[in-house]
Amino acid sequence: MAIKWIDEIQGTGKKILLRLDLNVPLEKRNDKWEITDTTRIDLSLPTVRFILEQNPSKLIIMSHLGRPKGKIDPQYSLEPVATYLAEKLHEEITLTETCLDAGIQTLLHLSRPRIIMLENLRFHSEEEKNDNVFAAQLAKYGDLYVNDAFGVSHREHASVYQIISHFKNKAYGGFLLKKEIQSFAKILERPDRPMIALLGGAKVSDKVKCIEKLLPLVDNILLGGAMAYPFLASKGLSVGKSLCSKEDQALATILLRQDKGQKILLPLDHVGATNPDAKESEIITTKDAHVPANIAAFDIGPATIQLYVSKLKLARTIFWNGPMGFFEKPLFAQGTKSLALAMSEMQNSFRVVGGGDSVAAVQQFHLADKFSHVSSGGGASLEYIEEGDLPGIKALKFGVN
Ligand code: 3PG
Repeated sequence: MAIKWIDEIQGTGKKILLRLDLNVPLEKRNDKWEITDTTRIDLSLPTVRFILEQNPSKLIIMSHLGRPKGKIDPQYSLEPVATYLAEKLHEEITLTETCLDAGIQTLLHLSRPRIIMLENLRFHSEEEKNDNVFAAQLAKYGDLYVNDAFGVSHREHASVYQIISHFKNKAYGGFLLKKEIQSFAKILERPDRPMIALLGGAKVSDKVKCIEKLLPLVDNILLGGAMAYPFLASKGLSVGKSLCSKEDQALATILLRQDKGQKILLPLDHVGATNPDAKESEIITTKDAHVPANIAAFDIGPATIQLYVSKLKLARTIFWNGPMGFFEKPLFAQGTKSLALAMSEMQNSFRVVGGGDSVAAVQQFHLADKFSHVSSGGGASLEYIEEGDLPGIKALKFGVN
């Protein structure tokens, strides 16, 4: 069964219930929670604007934010999100006190405002329990339902999964969801070759399934970040004080054994220090792949950058998930930045960035608009690579009982 896309929606005069992933990072500044990265909201704008152009009687937006564990907690309020979105749209948005307020039905019958935002769905434990009564309560707000929340579609939660049972033939996928699916389909089903996966991040255990899935599909997997050290240790190299759990090393050994075509490439050198807060004068660049006993590696070194850039330059398709080092610290950002820059210049290849940290990195280097697709999903993008589908997307295709 195919997904009904939002372009088909007949929304005039209807109440449209829209699930977005507006789970953005917040920081408290001068006693106020402020959004530090608005990417997810910005990526949702085409769908929001398209719905408003249909002249619906109401647009009801719902999302989660953070992990408040089923309790009302003001630090996870969607208030800063509603304020930002209202500014972007030049339109008033009413944020409800909770997503189950008795007053919501009254609001739905008022002519203004057109947009209602429901307060954080995860203030109710029923959301994560995929509770059908909760899903039915939310479903009452809309005549039609749209899921544009790719970033949370790997969760079987009430607002992306069970709710579909209340919108038979009235559930649609939004523009962002469509772009995400099309981008990952290109990687998984019809990549132009050579295809390279650039994987980094903290733990091997987080990426095992992804590596297993990608190994037969790609020409090379370039590894960096803390997850490279268990692989190096498994090959008998010294990793010094770098992160390297026994569990991750065992997993790395299994993956290297599976890598019959020797597609996995590992760092040739490193940039490290005794601690991540070291001063510039204390930074050491290793001369080979061994990490001296007294330091931990926090970035890939210049020889690795050269090797990885040369591989990336030949690629026609690239999937990047996870930074090459501790890029938040300028002294350890060179590896991630150099590779991001190299990829940003390859306008003839299809380049997808997925995963919270690598997306944060391209934002930090102001390169997001230079990639073919910057995924809004962290866990969701990895799970899509691993499984080729997600529960929320399957629900849109096949329905839910
Ligand atoms: C994300 O940030 O990856 C999504 O919003 C999902 O959030 P979660 O991991 O808390 O379910």
